[in-house]
Amino acid sequence: MEIVLATSNKGKVKEIQALFEEDHVIPFSDILGPLEIEENGTTFAENARIKAETIFKKLGRDDVIVISDDSGITVPALNNEPGIYSARYAGEGATDKQNLNKLLQRLKEKGLKESPAYYTAAIAIFAPGAEYVMHGWMFGKVIDEPRGDGGFGYDPMFIPEGFDQTLGELDPAIKRELSHRSKALALAKPIIEMLRSLKR
Ligand code: IMP
Repeated sequence: MEIVLATSNKGKVKEIQALFEEDHVIPFSDILGPLEIEENGTTFAENARIKAETIFKKLGRDDVIVISDDSGITVPALNNEPGIYSARYAGEGATDKQNLNKLLQRLKEKGLKESPAYYTAAIAIFAPGAEYVMHGWMFGKVIDEPRGDGGFGYDPMFIPEGFDQTLGELDPAIKRELSHRSKALALAKPIIEMLRSLKR
């Protein structure tokens, strides 16, 4: 069984491949080329499911397990922005940098130097006859001045609970241990093992 990722986000692909170490995990774009998937769900879980199902159906194979990740950052003091709109916060097709700048600007508008925030990841798994969705969260705060250039997306402005540095500054190994994505994937891993061991 091949594991195919229903994402071409380089940051996610790198983190997910690092967690699967010995396994061969490839982004769908290596097989199918570039493809826009419309994420019109109202929750992280729905969007994760849409992505995994779309790629599973496009591949049309019974020897693959497709994994998707839908994730984002939520700031309760900003009416839960950007949430599921994290990737398009500064508009459709916005870059990570533009989205980060928009969140910095929104904090400044509200006069907030920092504010509690959390990341959510929904991981969906699609395989022949099987579908699952699981979640992971990472709590902390966002600050109004980005620091460091590690990680991706909103990481330079996010400080995880129990730390003083942003995810842009911290060693990637710390993020691997703490992250929303790692927690959801820890739940996904035994399911993937089980699906791989099934004789169909
Ligand atoms: P998606 O690809 O539609 O799931 O959008 C994910 C959005 O959330 C992107 O804007 C990412 O930059 C952001 N995001 C998700 N996970 C992380 C993370 O671990 N660090 C930083 N930003 C993240």
